[in-house]
Amino acid sequence: MKLPPVAAVFPPLPAGGTPLSALQREVLALKREKDALILAHNYQCEDIQGVADYVGDSLGLAYKAAQAAQSTIVFCGVPFMAETAKIVNPSRRVLLPDLAAGCSLADSCPAEKLAAAKAADPSLYVVAYINCSAAVKALSDVIVTSGNASKIVSRAPADRPILFVPDQNLGHWVSGKTGRAMQLWPGNCYAHVQFTPAALLRAKAAHPGAPVVAHPECTEAVRELADMVCSTELMVGWCKEQTADTIIVTTESGMIHRLRREAPGKTFVAAPTDRCSCNDCKFMKMNTLEKVRDCLRDGAPEIRMEESLRAAAEIPLRRMLEWSR
Ligand code: 13P
Ligand code: SF4
Repeated sequence: MKLPPVAAVFPPLPAGGTPLSALQREVLALKREKDALILAHNYQCEDIQGVADYVGDSLGLAYKAAQAAQSTIVFCGVPFMAETAKIVNPSRRVLLPDLAAGCSLADSCPAEKLAAAKAADPSLYVVAYINCSAAVKALSDVIVTSGNASKIVSRAPADRPILFVPDQNLGHWVSGKTGRAMQLWPGNCYAHVQFTPAALLRAKAAHPGAPVVAHPECTEAVRELADMVCSTELMVGWCKEQTADTIIVTTESGMIHRLRREAPGKTFVAAPTDRCSCNDCKFMKMNTLEKVRDCLRDGAPEIRMEESLRAAAEIPLRRMLEWSR
């Protein structure tokens, strides 16, 4: 009989950190030579996080991209994130190490279907999670991230019905927190819905007393087992505050690299799924340090966008940046 996977355990990093590899030094030299800013999402692999100027969640990355003074932004994440950088800072060249790194959640809401829903009910106020295409952003009234969704939804006009796209799990969580009824688009993140109550309960039994933090893209049944539900950036502050020395982290496993650096001395347990001992997003992990080096060297692949689309998508994104200050 096949045994269920046990949770992967990450003890504290050794003091002094790890020296840079030859490839990391090459990337840093190219970054200076090309006048580039390297932004990396918390789910990127450890060696990429190690060369980034800023590692953070979707909200922090959007602010950093908007403020970038460098002529080139290398965005180590997935296309909707790099598109966001281009939308808010169009005069910069935005490079993505692997253009094929998609997102199941963004794909679950095609712009044509959203346009049809709006045509069927023109009174809808569309709140879009930032994990969507530029075309979906352009059709939306305001954008949210997991870090500011409740704050933004609370400001949505009270006399309009809200359609929340594309993550039904995040939408359900936000609706509960704000008390605003919302129509939820039937999309989800393929990686976060792999966490199950049974797998999380096994990790809790193996680490008695360890608090659990979970991302709101997880299902309600998993969120209910967590001590804290929040965006990846808020996880950093919450984990630092915990007196427990072991914490169970229910999100993509790249998050653990950031947590080990920011909360030294703690042991992090990657919540398992029913199939594996920790959970990677196959799209986030398509970026490699070699591809970061190659895109800096070649100036490609580059994010390009029609100006009319960019300008339309900028309106709800700017509204978000303004409302979440
Ligand atoms: P945040 O980093 O904004 O919490 O988003 C998580 C995520 O799934 C990004 O793809
Ligand atoms: Fe998309 Fe989920 Fe991967 Fe984030 S973790 S990029 S939401 S598939």
